[in-house]
Amino acid sequence: MNKINKFFQERKIIPLDLFLNKVLYHKDLGYYQKKNPFGKKGDFVTAPNISNLFGEMITIWFVGFWKKLNKPKKINFIEMGPGNGDLCLTVLKTLKNFPEVYNSTNIILYEKSKMLRKIQKQRILSKKVSWIQKLSKIKSGPVVFFGNEFLDALPIKQFKKINGIIFEKYVKIGKKNVNFFFKKSIKKEIKKLESYKIIKNEGIIEYPEYGFKELGIVCNKIKKLNGGALFIDYGYVNEHNTDTLQSVFKHKYNNIEKNIGKADITYLVNFNLYKEYFNMKNLIVDKIISQSEFLQKMGIRERFKILSHKLNAKEKSNLYTRVKRLLHPEMMGQKFKVIFVKNKKCNFNLDLT
Ligand SMILES: C[S@@+](CC[C@H](N)C(=O)[O-])C[C@H]1O[C@@H](n2cnc3c(N)ncnc32)[C@H](O)[C@@H]1O
Repeated sequence: MNKINKFFQERKIIPLDLFLNKVLYHKDLGYYQKKNPFGKKGDFVTAPNISNLFGEMITIWFVGFWKKLNKPKKINFIEMGPGNGDLCLTVLKTLKNFPEVYNSTNIILYEKSKMLRKIQKQRILSKKVSWIQKLSKIKSGPVVFFGNEFLDALPIKQFKKINGIIFEKYVKIGKKNVNFFFKKSIKKEIKKLESYKIIKNEGIIEYPEYGFKELGIVCNKIKKLNGGALFIDYGYVNEHNTDTLQSVFKHKYNNIEKNIGKADITYLVNFNLYKEYFNMKNLIVDKIISQSEFLQKMGIRERFKILSHKLNAKEKSNLYTRVKRLLHPEMMGQKFKVIFVKNKKCNFNLDLT
């Protein structure tokens, strides 16, 4: 019997989010605790794995933010869920071109997986970088939070509304398999949805309770210490009302009921819902834009041109393919969205104008 099935035997029926939390993050058996999912040998690749230019553009954005905050002598850049550390390495390298910002910046990595923390510590040797397991440890500001594919890694709840009646998705764990099913939701759970517009929808309602819990602390820090947060994720801004849960195993779509604990499980992030959430927390959200628009605003095309002059034909074509993957609307360009949330004191936009 699969170890994770055995673990669940005692708990047989649990809500979807609890199931995802165990399957992905259980301290011994969870997907993110056992394996390095990134790259060719893993299950998927993320933007920082595709090209350093992604991390360079995030650094350019951060430098702009620092300037808009009147060049503070100390600033904390907090990366949420840094994965294999690729983005952090690029940020460190790129920041060296801006010595004043470099000297002012502390980089803090917030990572839940013990195994990924180990990989990050082996790869990132700079004294500038420290690790925290609780966001409450951040005591000084301003703070700039950044997360790439962080939100879609946090477990969600799923509900289904039919003729005004709300059901919640549960998981039944058998000896060898798991089954998903809906059962009538209890009042306590329905209450959680009531503050949001999604309650009005018929069909599937996805609710990121774990995400809101994590971001609650982020919002408090932004309010208290000044600053903002930038999140980039696979997601949507228009009404969806469908089941967006998906599983990936060795770079291919996987039946969600198969390879439990061995495959990644994610979903599409509802950016408007997060916007509503941030506004309720009294923070300001700019317009939500696509990854393509954001990277171009930060100058990725110009950077590509500059680098191309120094490359041979093969290297240039390789870089071109990578940048295309980040920008093309049918690849990551439109599918990934960017949300920027800031303290009310920050009177500048996402593109730092
Ligand atoms: C899909 S990966 C993205 C990794 C990286 N940002 C990238 O783009 O390559 C999600 C990351 O978030 C981490 N993570 C998930 N939930 C977390 C939590 N509650 N607190 C801190 N890190 C978390 C995972 O362990 C992993 O490093």
